[in-house]
Amino acid sequence: MVKIKNIQFNNFRNFKNFKTSFDNKLNILFGDNGCGKTNILEGISLVAKGRGIRNSNISNLIKKKENNFLIKNSLEIQSNNYNIEIYSEKKNEKFKKIIKINDDLSKDSLDFLNQAISYLIFLPEMERLFQSSPSYRRNFLDRLIFSSRNDYNRLVNKYKKFLLERMKIMQVNNVDYVWLNNIEKEICSLGLEIYSLRNSQLNSLNNELNILKKYHKFQFNIELEIKDDFYNNNIDFESYLSNLKNLRSYDKQYGGTKIGPHRSDLFATINGEYEASILSTGQQKTVVLMILLAQCNYLVNNKNITPIFLFDEIGSHLDKYNRQILLDMINRFEIQFFLTGTDKNLFSFVSTNAQFYNITGL
Ligand SMILES: Nc1ncnc2c1ncn2[C@@H]1O[C@H](COP(=O)(O)OP(=O)(O)OP(=O)(O)O)[C@@H](O)[C@H]1O
Ligand SMILES: [Mg+2]
Repeated sequence: MVKIKNIQFNNFRNFKNFKTSFDNKLNILFGDNGCGKTNILEGISLVAKGRGIRNSNISNLIKKKENNFLIKNSLEIQSNNYNIEIYSEKKNEKFKKIIKINDDLSKDSLDFLNQAISYLIFLPEMERLFQSSPSYRRNFLDRLIFSSRNDYNRLVNKYKKFLLERMKIMQVNNVDYVWLNNIEKEICSLGLEIYSLRNSQLNSLNNELNILKKYHKFQFNIELEIKDDFYNNNIDFESYLSNLKNLRSYDKQYGGTKIGPHRSDLFATINGEYEASILSTGQQKTVVLMILLAQCNYLVNNKNITPIFLFDEIGSHLDKYNRQILLDMINRFEIQFFLTGTDKNLFSFVSTNAQFYNITGL
């Protein structure tokens, strides 16, 4: 089990100095718009690999007019305590995020931390998940994969880098075909890996959603599906490669790669009848919460991972169905929650002992 015991910010976002300890179970941060609730969740999320829940540039995390930020926290991982320091460092005019674990910068301890930490995130934009862009939905799915495989983002970034590289090679007058062939081979093997990981993520979600139905009276029956014009299970490396080769002049003309996992989209069919895009925002929130509940079940039962929940602006749009799902998450798992909302009263339905934090004016 992983718990964040306390946190301290120096020159992080709107906070000059901020310090608080946290409850092992349920933490509710409330306060006026702009007081720093999302910033606190972001600060917590930075202990994991990557750039946090907003995927922000490191320089934007530093309080305006200051030089660097420092976040200290103590973590409990399987009953052992670790002191973590996360800070910005400027190298060659670029800011980097550095993490120290018990004063240790070694790769081994960083790997250990990355293995141990996993987050499940709800952001207010997710209330429109099925009305937003395909890339937002792909990111949503990719984040879920990332919650059980901390090397997944590197895979996706590498794939994107090779797509750009391919475009660059094709744009010059004297095309280096040996190089181009090699890059396309890299694209195909990484692309197939991404397709396959997304498929297995989706299968486990559908599977968990089915299991959950047995002891939970959900309002919706959800069937998730990846739609992709190119991919089907029969596509192998060679046919992927020849498709890519045939599309060279087309791709060059249109300035993008027509086929590949960067073109996939995530769909949800509700009650076997209609698409989730016609649901209201509150109902889309239900679908997203159900998916997060399913993912949590999968992580805890199949992967032996206890994620930390960071749910931003979860307080609004909570009808009895959404409250039930949220309460089920809180009661079912022995994990730590961080929930935010503008008003304390939005959380009065939570009967478990919760720790409330008023962030206004800190
Ligand atoms: N680098 C920075 N330096 C100083 N202030 C910043 C920085 N980045 C963001 N802020 C400020 O931090 C404030 C708090 O932002 P945050 O998004 O955490 O608010 P919030 O409490 O989540 O509000 P809401 O309820 O509207 O979501 C904002 O006013 C924002 O302008
Ligand atoms: Mg906010």
